Amino acid sequence: MHLPASVRNLVLVGFMGSGKSSVGREIARRCDFRFLDTDSVIRQKYGKSIPEIFAIHGEPAFREEEHQLLLRLRGARHLVIATGGGIVLQPQNRLRLRSIGPVVWLTADEEVIWERVSRNRNRPLLQTVDPRSTIRSLMQIRYPLYREAADVVVETSTLTHQEVAHRVLLAVRVWVTERHEGED
Ligand code: S3P
Repeated sequence: MHLPASVRNLVLVGFMGSGKSSVGREIARRCDFRFLDTDSVIRQKYGKSIPEIFAIHGEPAFREEEHQLLLRLRGARHLVIATGGGIVLQPQNRLRLRSIGPVVWLTADEEVIWERVSRNRNRPLLQTVDPRSTIRSLMQIRYPLYREAADVVVETSTLTHQEVAHRVLLAVRVWVTERHEGED
């Protein structure tokens, strides 16, 4: 299933572990778009892992890199962009994301997120004494921000990456149709 021609890029937002990268790759493959992961672009620029960038340069430097990257994506075409879970923290990023393409929020239950993120240690914000409660409080802060940034919401908790990719494409098609009808 392809995206309507009016969709220049597709942007995925959501909490750590919501499947943005895996789903993004799958959508890019299906639509013949290129895939871009903001975390990997920043990792490549620094030649370091995300935990190293946070430890050496600090979180504000990382957030600035995210912001600058969004500015550079202004004229992008045919990209599926998976963003880091904290990209919505800056209000100007929330606006900017929408100007790049439809923004899809991948949601998942706290339990499912915990299941997925507890398998690896590459997320500096979760290196706390009680990562489970860190997830809970970060979700409380961020869910309203994802909601504000997103055009479309897809719940992923019980779905495979392939199923999520399919639902995202369907939901974006419906969103494009409704938006155009609204313009008439
Ligand atoms: C972060 C999420 C990470 C990465 C960094 C900070 C966050 O990306 O950008 O560790 O603030 O939620 P993922 O959402 O891909 O894990």
